[in-house]
Amino acid sequence: MLTVNMLLSVFFLPGVFADYCQNKPVGISITAPKEIEALSGSCLEIPCSFKTLRQFDSRRHTNGVWMKNDTDFSSDPSVVIFHSSRSVNKYPLNITGNLRERNCTTLFPDLNTSYTDKYFFRVENGPFRTTACADPLQIKVKDSPWSPSINVPSDLKEHQSVTVTCSAFTPCPHSPPQLTWTLQQDSLRQTEKNTERTFTTKIQENITLSDTHDGYNITCSARYPVIGGSKTAETEVTLSVSYAPRNTSASISPSGLVSAGSWVELSCSSRAKPPPRFTWFRNSKDGAINVSVEKVYGLNATEGGEFYCVATNDLGTETSSEVPLEINGDQNLLFDILF
Ligand SMILES: *[C@@H]1O[C@H](CO)[C@@H](O)[C@H](O)[C@H]1NC(C)=O
Ligand SMILES: *[C@@H]1O[C@H](CO)[C@@H](O)[C@H](O)[C@H]1NC(C)=O
Ligand SMILES: *[C@@H]1O[C@H](CO)[C@@H](O)[C@H](O)[C@H]1NC(C)=O
Ligand SMILES: *[C@@H]1O[C@H](CO)[C@@H](O)[C@H](O)[C@H]1NC(C)=O
Ligand SMILES: *[C@@H]1O[C@H](CO)[C@@H](O)[C@H](O)[C@H]1NC(C)=O
Ligand SMILES: *[C@@H]1O[C@H](CO)[C@@H](O)[C@H](O)[C@H]1NC(C)=O
Ligand SMILES: *[C@@H]1O[C@H](CO)[C@@H](O)[C@H](O)[C@H]1NC(C)=O
Ligand SMILES: *[C@@H]1O[C@H](CO)[C@@H](O)[C@H](O)[C@H]1NC(C)=O
Ligand SMILES: *[C@@H]1O[C@H](CO)[C@@H](O)[C@H](O)[C@H]1NC(C)=O
Repeated sequence: MLTVNMLLSVFFLPGVFADYCQNKPVGISITAPKEIEALSGSCLEIPCSFKTLRQFDSRRHTNGVWMKNDTDFSSDPSVVIFHSSRSVNKYPLNITGNLRERNCTTLFPDLNTSYTDKYFFRVENGPFRTTACADPLQIKVKDSPWSPSINVPSDLKEHQSVTVTCSAFTPCPHSPPQLTWTLQQDSLRQTEKNTERTFTTKIQENITLSDTHDGYNITCSARYPVIGGSKTAETEVTLSVSYAPRNTSASISPSGLVSAGSWVELSCSSRAKPPPRFTWFRNSKDGAINVSVEKVYGLNATEGGEFYCVATNDLGTETSSEVPLEINGDQNLLFDILF
């Protein structure tokens, strides 16, 4: 009866155990990243756990095996690069997880590019011995480090308080990359676990944006410690911050006294993002009159007056100071200005 149950569990467990390995049904499935990158001269921690058939008995002594490129160790024993029962192994790995608790977390202490390959995990739990043939783990070892990523919310506006983050992939949490950036160095720093249980190192800072941040470059560099030194990669982003009009000023050309009937140009300038719209006003006894919606307002100087412009964008409005238009020989206006 027991045998029947075992056969049933072998053949009727859904999906995960349906594969075969060297003509034997696979009795294990592992949860680990399918593909993982590592840096030569550094370490790699592989988060790993496994599920097995009921024959797995956590009271028994359990060994873990890692194979490289292939699983057929009977025809090629050299595929076995690590066996936890051996004191000397081809690769100096360390299974740091507790295998009896189905934790196969493994540390590769020092990789080089020749480690780039497919790896297979095997568990040996008394007579229950099975290889996770259907779950190869692809390791890719690179010589150059990963550029960190800088995260800034989109659509930045002045007065907003935003969190800027620089994060770097951290395959070796025991010696994480050191992050530095052009923002303050006392930023919040941490190495945290991701959803796939791999690690990320971060620095984070809250900044209150102003117009001076527009065009500001944030450079973040990640320095990875490796055997005998370090490797560094850098990322730069330029902030784009919207702001209300600033330094709005009105000017008149020609300046000073002009003769009646001559052509005069009033010009408005302002710094704003997005670029502002302009409106020109003329002061009169009945209040300000809207005279133009151009940046440069040209007019035939028939009478004197006072003008100012207003710059406007989605974020706000700014009014310039007033500029006088003085007509040569216009005693009344001169009188007004002087007294
Ligand atoms: C890897 O395995 C394949 C077969 O699965 C074999 O053809 C190839 O020679 C192996 N590569 C190395 C480097 O052993
Ligand atoms: C393996 O890792 C464990 C836990 O981190 C540590 O105590 C042990 O010394 C390591 N073994 C080797 C051979 O590095
Ligand atoms: C597996 O073992 C690793 C290393 O000891 C540990 O950090 C991790 O928390 C364990 N995972 C689980 C699910 O217990
Ligand atoms: C890479 O590591 C393996 C195993 O630790 C070692 O045998 C080999 O010499 C190393 N290769 C280089 C280029 O350092
Ligand atoms: C930054 O702002 C976020 C959200 O507003 C807040 O949760 C966090 O504590 C702040 N961090 C620092 C370092 O002030
Ligand atoms: C920011 O970086 C860009 C591109 O590298 C460069 O053209 C620009 O001059 C830099 N701006 C500042 C303020 O340094
Ligand atoms: C622009 O206005 C700011 C205040 O808003 C002032 O500090 C700065 O000197 C002005 N710049 C110029 C070029 O006038
Ligand atoms: C400006 O006004 C004067 C007087 O009315 C006229 O003679 C002259 O042609 C005008 N000039 C322009 C450019 O409109
Ligand atoms: C100024 O006048 C123009 C044209 O008559 C009009 O489109 C605009 O809305 C006015 N602007 C203001 C601020 O009154």
